[in-house]
Amino acid sequence: MGFTNQFQCLCLALIIVLGAWVPQAMARTLQDASMHERHEQWMYLHGRVYNDNYEKEKRYQIFKENVERIESFNKADNKSYKLGVNEFADLTNEEFKASRNRFKGHMGSQSELISYKYENVTAVPPTMDWRMRGAVTPVKNQGQCVAALEGITQLRTGILVSLSEQELVDCDRNGVDQGCRGGLMDEAFKFILQNKGLTTEANYPFNGVDGTCNAIMEANSAAYITGFEDVPANNEEALLYAVANQPVSVAIDAGSHEFQFYSSGVFTGPCGTNLDHGVAAVGYGVDADGTKYWLVKNSWSTRWGEGGYIRMQRDVVAMEGLCGIAMQPSYPTA
Ligand SMILES: *[C@@H]1O[C@H](CO)[C@@H](O)[C@H](O)[C@H]1NC(C)=O
Ligand SMILES: *[C@@H]1O[C@H](CO)[C@@H](O)[C@H](O)[C@H]1NC(C)=O
Repeated sequence: MGFTNQFQCLCLALIIVLGAWVPQAMARTLQDASMHERHEQWMYLHGRVYNDNYEKEKRYQIFKENVERIESFNKADNKSYKLGVNEFADLTNEEFKASRNRFKGHMGSQSELISYKYENVTAVPPTMDWRMRGAVTPVKNQGQCVAALEGITQLRTGILVSLSEQELVDCDRNGVDQGCRGGLMDEAFKFILQNKGLTTEANYPFNGVDGTCNAIMEANSAAYITGFEDVPANNEEALLYAVANQPVSVAIDAGSHEFQFYSSGVFTGPCGTNLDHGVAAVGYGVDADGTKYWLVKNSWSTRWGEGGYIRMQRDVVAMEGLCGIAMQPSYPTA
């Protein structure tokens, strides 16, 4: 074999090797490029800015992992719900849990109040959606202990008014509830009771920081309660009787990766019962395929879930309910 032949051989080998390798590498690069592009678009959509390239690269890797996991979840055709690349897409599940869910569940038993005014209810409508009855304000991007209060106020007065979460954040400093941001529902109701009402969102707007209580704004109460009651714990039927009659505050475990990226459908888990998030049950129904669900109003803006709502499977085997939804429901009375 002469030099030329050897060279040709080598070339051929190289071409064969490259031929197998180049398209794969190119595909990977293209995929990366489009993933980078998706990250850029996502950053733009959510107004996300990173301090430096190191932070950006780190966030990109997390974004990529989340997107891939979401896409592979959505490929499975036997799931009752879909995930979406939402505003939490550059957070690991640990970071998400730490940043969003600060609810501190009751340590021991439920409140000392044992009355439950719906105990003798037996007939309830097959479905309920308090939004259709004008008892639910638009989805907010903040705490959520006022949803049940807005509901009962509308039912009593016929007027739907958005109430101030900020007043709870600023003014309810005695309790252990850190205002409304993931605070204890019953503690918030206690404050509203002692405070002789709560003012409107318009009068005392949300600003997202723990400030000092503005006594002048606080003085203009717009909603009043006579008390609050706990739904008997771990009893989805009792919860049904309450939700059939008014929007109800519930605590859930919202910490799972699937909950983080829930987009649509009836959520069936996975999730635990480590209550870390306060939301409101504002209805219930049955999906086309027969799955019963709770209609739950969340507070992570309208971009999360079904316009800010999630339908969570109802009447599950576990008596705590899905994600512990039946563990600590309570509602104000008026
Ligand atoms: C869905 O399909 C996957 C794989 O095809 C299977 O492992 C899983 O058990 C199925 N889940 C349900 C709820 O049927
Ligand atoms: C439910 O019915 C029982 C038995 O009649 C009665 O003692 C109780 O007061 C009723 N509860 C309510 C909240 O009306």
